[in-house]
Amino acid sequence: MKDTGWIAATEFVRHPSMVGSAFPASARMVRRMLAPLDWSNIKTLVEYGPGSGRFTFEMLRRMRPDAQLIAIETSQAFVAKLREQCDDPRLVVVEGSARDVRRHIAAETCGRADCILTGLPFSTLGDAEADIIMHETALALKPTAVLAAYQMRTAIGPLIDRNFAQVRRDFEWCNIPPCHLYWATGPFKAPKTARLHLISSR
Ligand SMILES: C[S@@+](CC[C@H](N)C(=O)[O-])C[C@H]1O[C@@H](n2cnc3c(N)ncnc32)[C@H](O)[C@@H]1O
Repeated sequence: MKDTGWIAATEFVRHPSMVGSAFPASARMVRRMLAPLDWSNIKTLVEYGPGSGRFTFEMLRRMRPDAQLIAIETSQAFVAKLREQCDDPRLVVVEGSARDVRRHIAAETCGRADCILTGLPFSTLGDAEADIIMHETALALKPTAVLAAYQMRTAIGPLIDRNFAQVRRDFEWCNIPPCHLYWATGPFKAPKTARLHLISSR
């Protein structure tokens, strides 16, 4: 089996707009992203696009023994590598898309997620796809849950603002490339744009 660095580079060359970066997340960015999360209250955790697993393994280290991590990844090569590398029963690696997050959660557990972590490249996914994934994400989360996101660009900002009540932002230089960090809470049940549309069409 090929090593993870090789897989990350070849997957980036094959699907640049879906993979977003040829470099895995830095240890410093992983620590900063995960530090504000309340691990004692996270039972169902979802990761979009685990790639080579930089966040996945660190999250497993912090998770409760009875918690579950559902990692959703479109790339068959990353899925195969993660399954080969990790036999932790708390981890379920799903080959599929984040847009089907509610179906994937329902297949593994009941109820909604306490936290979703995403590194999907929202700026290159396409507007419609990015909109659907963010809306599905808000619907998949409990009212008290957190969406944690790291992004090279700021295209995700308006999507978060439309679907979540509060967002805290930060920036991490020590990553290739440097990334914007977001922690959003208070998922709306319907996106703000749709609600405005309903009000204005009365
Ligand atoms: C920027 S990489 C993140 C890699 C990894 N999390 C890291 O920190 O090194 C984005 C990942 O999202 C995956 N991906 C892209 N679109 C996806 C989708 N709709 N659903 C799930 N995974 C997706 C890509 O295959 C890639 O592994």
